[in-house]
Amino acid sequence: MRMAQTLGVRFSYTEDGAFALDGVSISVERGEFVAVIGRNGSGKSTMARHLNALLRPTAGTVLIEGRDTADDAETWEIRRAAGMVFQNPDNQLVATIVEDDAAFGPENLGVPPEEIRARVDKALADVGMTEHAKSAPHRLSGGQKQRVAIAGVLAMKPDCVILDEPTAMLDPVGREDVMATAERLNRDDGITIILITHDMDEAARAGRVIVMDSGRVVMDAPPREVFSRADELARYGLGVPQAAECAQALRALGFEADPGILGGAELAEAVSKLRGSGSLDADRDNQSDI
Ligand SMILES: Nc1ncnc2c1ncn2[C@@H]1O[C@H](COP(=O)(O)OP(=O)(O)O)[C@@H](O)[C@H]1O
Ligand SMILES: [Mg+2]
Repeated sequence: MRMAQTLGVRFSYTEDGAFALDGVSISVERGEFVAVIGRNGSGKSTMARHLNALLRPTAGTVLIEGRDTADDAETWEIRRAAGMVFQNPDNQLVATIVEDDAAFGPENLGVPPEEIRARVDKALADVGMTEHAKSAPHRLSGGQKQRVAIAGVLAMKPDCVILDEPTAMLDPVGREDVMATAERLNRDDGITIILITHDMDEAARAGRVIVMDSGRVVMDAPPREVFSRADELARYGLGVPQAAECAQALRALGFEADPGILGGAELAEAVSKLRGSGSLDADRDNQSDI
């Protein structure tokens, strides 16, 4: 079943202003892990807010599991089905105890107390925060806070989680924490993940990458394809994952390195192949001649 679909969506924050979304048509199937990248102001957050019915299109249609976000009667079901996690963990935790925070969403939905208990326990377990259930959120690390925010969404039993730059304010350990959590929810529970990120290495871990520029979708393809188009990405103000950048540098030096290289392991393999073939030794010899 189709999780989310936008059809020619245009949106302007002001009556006479420019379009923050200028004809966006995307489709996300259930169970996909999709990354959305694009420079600042390209419309990523505006699109995310449309998927959660926080914003409604000026023109065009947004469907979440077939439900039209323009229909007021569908708003709560849409927000339950497609939960949002934002950039700043401090702005989204509302309670003074972790487990109360995770209970906030289902309480608002009118879920019976005994079921809330079960849902909160499961949600905290799913994000690996069970042992912190009684902690005060402000005592947690950034990565832990984001995992509690994700638990709050999971307690609503969503089919999709939309994360808007959830790792932007975190240290490397916290970033990996959040990424691993999102990947596990996708893999083990089949939850659809839409991850907005400015980190190309994170985007490379998705099954599909959507690139936005000036309120439009300019690329929509698997990461290997998107990141092999480095020149085009550069025009949109975007780079490539670190390993892809290293592979590019090797090619510029005349070495063989696949343009499809995305991760550290693939890069290591390419380098070890070059070593095996003696090309790297030859280069060192050439350089010592100079
Ligand atoms: N609340 C707002 N009021 C007016 N304009 C906004 C508002 N939020 C975003 N915009 C504008 O809409 C465009 C898209 O912004 P946004 O969706 O936040 O982009 P991104 O998340 O990719 O950085 C930008 O030009 C931005 O300035
Ligand atoms: Mg944004």
